[in-house]
Amino acid sequence: MRSYLSLELSHADELPSVFKADDVRYPESLVEHFLKAYTQVGDIVLDPFAGYGTTLIVAERMGRIPFGVELNRDRVEYARSKLARPDCLIHGDSRLLENMDLPAIDFSITSPPYMNKEDLEDPFSAYQAKGKGYGSYLNDIRSIYAQLRKRMKQAGTVVIEVANLKRDGQVTTLAWDVAHEVSQVLRFQGELIMCWDKYGYGYDHSYCLVYTAL
Ligand SMILES: C[S@@+](CC[C@H](N)C(=O)[O-])C[C@H]1O[C@@H](n2cnc3c(N)ncnc32)[C@H](O)[C@@H]1O
Repeated sequence: MRSYLSLELSHADELPSVFKADDVRYPESLVEHFLKAYTQVGDIVLDPFAGYGTTLIVAERMGRIPFGVELNRDRVEYARSKLARPDCLIHGDSRLLENMDLPAIDFSITSPPYMNKEDLEDPFSAYQAKGKGYGSYLNDIRSIYAQLRKRMKQAGTVVIEVANLKRDGQVTTLAWDVAHEVSQVLRFQGELIMCWDKYGYGYDHSYCLVYTAL
């Protein structure tokens, strides 16, 4: 099996103008690829950082049963307007995942909020609150995936799309660091390198990290 995939960084629908400056979506084709590879019709799919709902919209279209969590109320309302089952998207904080009313999960895919190592804001507050630094961010990632593991079915799979970040000549090895942290709580199975037709975050590629329950 190839260890890279070349995709267009494009979307079927344009976002409403109010969101356009903050289009953090991954393309539908990325979600389609992983749902075909790892899920069946009727499977439960969770996106813990649902954003504008790309995972949920594609999962619903492919006959899977999507659930999601998203902190930003405006994004929740937008995504719910695109879903046949809008209640499956929880407006909430994934750091509290273990308290949420969710069924046992077959598959999870997401792109978490990113952080450069010198950033002051907390990505898990949607950059609204002062953070405690990069180490604390990585601890939160590990804690969220430890909680998610408890909600997964035994044979479940988890995919995390993440990039290393380059800003002002400085590199944050976000992909390596997230891979390491989540490997403490889930079994790392390898990565698929996503090659993009456009540059994002300083690079033309990102990584889809693939895990199973330990
Ligand atoms: C990279 S975006 C995900 C985009 C998504 N894949 C899409 O295609 O629309 C990350 C999302 O995580 C959300 N987020 C940040 N902190 C969160 C938290 N603590 N709990 C849930 N969602 C959170 C952000 O508001 C943002 O929409």
